[in-house]
Amino acid sequence: MASVKYKESKGVTVWFTGLPCSGKTAVADRVAQILKARGYRVERLDGDIVRQSLTRDLGYSREDRNENIRRVTFVAKLLTRNGVIVLTSFISPYRDIRAYAREEIGEFIEVYTKCPLEVCIQRDVKGMYQKALRGEIKEFTGISDPYEEPLNPELILETDKESLEESAAKVIAKLEELGYIEKT
Ligand SMILES: Nc1ncnc2c1ncn2[C@@H]1O[C@H](COP(=O)(O)OP(=O)(O)OP(=O)(O)O)[C@@H](O)[C@H]1O
Ligand SMILES: [Mg+2]
Repeated sequence: MASVKYKESKGVTVWFTGLPCSGKTAVADRVAQILKARGYRVERLDGDIVRQSLTRDLGYSREDRNENIRRVTFVAKLLTRNGVIVLTSFISPYRDIRAYAREEIGEFIEVYTKCPLEVCIQRDVKGMYQKALRGEIKEFTGISDPYEEPLNPELILETDKESLEESAAKVIAKLEELGYIEKT
């Protein structure tokens, strides 16, 4: 089998956080595509997928949300120290557990997908806001559970004002600026 030659990079975790439907998955997927096309080793850890596998036993209490993030942090740390660019997309609504992820992983870029709640409700990609507003889902972030905004994220994406392509380009520019990838 032919061996695949990757472009070398210093590993890093790009940690997307924000309300449901704020654009974490959409931007992280697009950034992953761009980085792969440039030849980098990339891995995606997405809330929807991780919660069906690694953390399928967990719910949405504060304790379970934090345990979800602790396990993800463990995986992201291993990948990051092996030169992978890890793109994580989790609501991760609590500041203290995001601070823990940053501390553990070390090479860490926090990206806040900022979007007004009203716009997220309009987007309602998976119909979850409507369910939460009808009272059918308890502990839904933004409706019946808090979201603690990042105080000092490396990057803020205003996804109600920018196109998906613009948001993705900002993440790429940040990775270039911080020296994780080569400028093209
Ligand atoms: N600049 C932008 N960045 C990201 N998404 C955008 C942008 N502009 C519009 N969108 C749209 O907003 C929606 C965001 O949905 P997405 O599934 O990415 O949210 P999410 O933050 O991953 O939500 P969840 O926490 O429920 O997984 C998509 O339909 C996307 O196309
Ligand atoms: Mg998502």
